[in-house]
Amino acid sequence: MDSLIKEIANLKKAFSEALKKTNSIEELEKIRVSFLGRKGQIASLMSKLKALSLEDKKVAGPLLNSLKTECDAAFEQKHQEISQKGFAQKQAKKEYFDVTAYKPQADPASLHPLTLVQEHVNDIFISMGFEIADGPEVETDYYNFEALNIPKDHPAREMVDTFWLDIPGLLLRTHTSSIQIHSMERQKAPIALAAPGRAYRHEATDASHDFLFMQTEGLLVDENISMSHLLATAREFFSAVFETKAFELRIRPSYFPFVEPGIEIDVECPFCNHGCSVCQQTKWIEAGGAGLVHPNVLEACGIDAKRYSGFAFGLGLTRLAMLKYGINDVRLLHSGNIEFLKQF
Ligand code: FA5
Repeated sequence: MDSLIKEIANLKKAFSEALKKTNSIEELEKIRVSFLGRKGQIASLMSKLKALSLEDKKVAGPLLNSLKTECDAAFEQKHQEISQKGFAQKQAKKEYFDVTAYKPQADPASLHPLTLVQEHVNDIFISMGFEIADGPEVETDYYNFEALNIPKDHPAREMVDTFWLDIPGLLLRTHTSSIQIHSMERQKAPIALAAPGRAYRHEATDASHDFLFMQTEGLLVDENISMSHLLATAREFFSAVFETKAFELRIRPSYFPFVEPGIEIDVECPFCNHGCSVCQQTKWIEAGGAGLVHPNVLEACGIDAKRYSGFAFGLGLTRLAMLKYGINDVRLLHSGNIEFLKQF
């Protein structure tokens, strides 16, 4: 019995010395396992109780219990001390962090390829006398569909899969054409604008389709605007984008409810003569949809469709970035992959 009492005293001393020497949470954890753990030294002393007489149990039991309680409390206190110290050290480091410090060979920041392409395209539009317009990404049914001559139950609503919000009538815009409506409502005619921005479609993604991508729209409304203005502007625009005048435009009939007639514009591949991976061996690159603004759209914006006419064209900026930089998977653009981004 005397030896057990001595062991209890020694253990208490060893525990408090071990705690004193400890400065880290990792070491503290080792001490906890060694002394307080299920198979630790205190548990092993407790197990000796069973073999004692009733008289001895009455003396050793309370001693062991208070050993356990005191060690638990000392452990908790030390744990708090170390944690607080660590926190204070981290705070102190933060305080002295020099944001202007120069780190040799550090990666310099660079613009995202989509930003580069958007800025380039904006500059081209501005040089042709167009203004840059903006609009909300969360849209109403009216601006994304109805005012663009796509009434409810119109089959064209099935052409795009829409992200509808839980709030009735609100959605993530499926194209930047909605910006046309806001701008024409405000400014009426004449108007010449370019509207770049994000568009969202509830589609399965693959190498060339994402659920979030960038588009830009060109719109010009004035008196006597015809298809030849559209084609001349498109030619000028794409020769600035691809930095060459040596290409043909190919026009195919197409359908968009907000233009009449509607066309698809293809650009002769500026990267090859006989077909390459960029044009998928077809020698043509699909550049975007276009057409003459439908009179219903002009009227919806309060513009006299008998006096004014206009053209609109929309293209994928994301697709343009992929063509320009030879990016073979659209999903890389939003991957946050540093190795990919370092190339720009
Ligand atoms: C439109 O969105 C029409 N608003 C364009 C338009 C404007 C036509 C004005 C007429 C007049 P479309 O759905 O084809 O059209 O999309 C235009 C471009 O957006 C496509 O050529 C493509 O480059 C890009 N695009 C469409 N869906 C995706 C997608 N899921 N991922 C990446 N780019 C896409």
